[in-house]
Amino acid sequence: MSGQTIVVTGGAGFIGSHLVDRLLARGDAVVCVDDFNDAYDPALKRENVAPHRDAAAFRVVELDVREREPTIALVRELRPDAVVHLAARAGVRPSLANPWLYQETNVGGTLNVLEACRLAGVERFVFGSSSSVYGCDAAAPFAEDALDLRPASPYAATKIAGEAMVHSYAHLYGIQATSLRFFTVYGPRQRPDLAISKFTAGILRGAPIELFGDGTSSRDYTHVDDIVAGTLAALDRAAPGYAVFNLGSARPTSLRSLVAALEGIIGVAAKIEWSPAQPGDVPRTHAALERARAELGYAPAVSLVDGLADFIRWLRPRL
Ligand SMILES: NC(=O)c1ccc[n+]([C@@H]2O[C@H](COP(=O)([O-])OP(=O)(O)OC[C@H]3O[C@@H](n4cnc5c(N)ncnc54)[C@H](O)[C@@H]3O)[C@@H](O)[C@H]2O)c1
Repeated sequence: MSGQTIVVTGGAGFIGSHLVDRLLARGDAVVCVDDFNDAYDPALKRENVAPHRDAAAFRVVELDVREREPTIALVRELRPDAVVHLAARAGVRPSLANPWLYQETNVGGTLNVLEACRLAGVERFVFGSSSSVYGCDAAAPFAEDALDLRPASPYAATKIAGEAMVHSYAHLYGIQATSLRFFTVYGPRQRPDLAISKFTAGILRGAPIELFGDGTSSRDYTHVDDIVAGTLAALDRAAPGYAVFNLGSARPTSLRSLVAALEGIIGVAAKIEWSPAQPGDVPRTHAALERARAELGYAPAVSLVDGLADFIRWLRPRL
């Protein structure tokens, strides 16, 4: 579908800015709502959306979605065809230090955006959730119908709460809504606080890198192009009601294997410093993709080696 008006909250961030690129390229009008906060250098976020600065179909609104009335007023003014809500405090470890900020942004902010959609009559809503909702004990591969979710961090808890709020609005007000559980997303513009960013920068600089645990923890690393393809499929989905989908690669990779892959591509051995596993971290993530494949036509296409090489090409000149 194209020719629609789509609001992307968090549209200046890592995943959001890639989605904005694709929406504009296919002919949609996009309003990026972002507060450009300093969770990491906001200059990076401005750089992410700078290429579209003069595009007639693109607008940036600097707004904090924790502000209820301005959020409602904006969505009522825009009356978009759909909202993709990605604005959030992301990352597990900082959520232990300031759980209130995560609660206010990821739960309160999500409620504000949903309420704005209800009042503006927005018919479609896509929510950026996380594999972290599955916690430590879920049976792998993680399937969307798992009911016994045991979040291991405030971040994970806020994503479960966000999903629950989205469901309640879909149920009560007939908004067609989708929660997408993203699995460890990587690629160009990646948040600098993420492990792949730190490891790659360390290896390229010849600096030590800190690995937590014993190297056996594993993540279902997913390239941002695959995540954006799945998000567009969810946005264009015609089915009414509420649905939740995993967007992953179904290819869990251990921490040690990830570092070995980076070493192989860069051609330099990492200087590894081992530290104990961190509170809030989960031992593994592994996406079951049957539902996303069947209902979204989702088919992750970027191999880990190709995806890491793509990321390194982007990062190297920026160091
Ligand atoms: N990157 C991953 O591996 C990953 C995995 C699972 C889920 N997610 C989710 O995907 C979404 C995007 O993540 P990302 O990695 O692109 O992170 P990001 O931090 O790069 O993007 C989030 C954007 O939201 C904006 N934002 C935050 N709070 C806001 C507020 N109160 N008002 C307006 N804007 C606000 C930030 O400024 C930022 O630009 C988040 O909801 C995150 O929880 C990401």
